[in-house]
Amino acid sequence: MNKDLVRDFNEQINQEFYSAYLYLKISAYYMEKGLSGFASWFLAQAREEEGHGVKLLSYLVSSGRKAGFGEIAAPAIEFDSLEAPLQATLEHEIAVTARINNLYDFAFTYKDFQTADFLTWFVREQREELETASGLVQKMKLYGTDGQGLYQLDRELAQRK
Ligand SMILES: [Fe+2]
Repeated sequence: MNKDLVRDFNEQINQEFYSAYLYLKISAYYMEKGLSGFASWFLAQAREEEGHGVKLLSYLVSSGRKAGFGEIAAPAIEFDSLEAPLQATLEHEIAVTARINNLYDFAFTYKDFQTADFLTWFVREQREELETASGLVQKMKLYGTDGQGLYQLDRELAQRK
């Protein structure tokens, strides 16, 4: 694997753990607000992001490259409404998608087709993440505006394992 690609790969691993950290912060926010369904949904999302990080890490190490461990940034974001974390999630996933696309493109630049093939899973995953995130924003706008709707939505999100 090309050395610049290894650097960007390591950067992506760090970003996945940052995503997990961000979603933990969102989970804690909803916990504070008494929305346990939202909180558990974001906790599951954080675990999923850790899984992404581990998946990338395993590939890197199994390719005989060294994993670099940098600091994970603290999410510098505060939420001023129940909808704000969902909007932040959508924006974050848009940024992650751009990063994954760049990494994928970079793999082709270096004719590293095995890595490009491996990254296909992440390209597809991002499509799902974007759909889910924009779906949540939309649902919150439609139903989250009154107590009854919010209660139902919280129950729905609690179903995620
Ligand atoms: Fe991810």
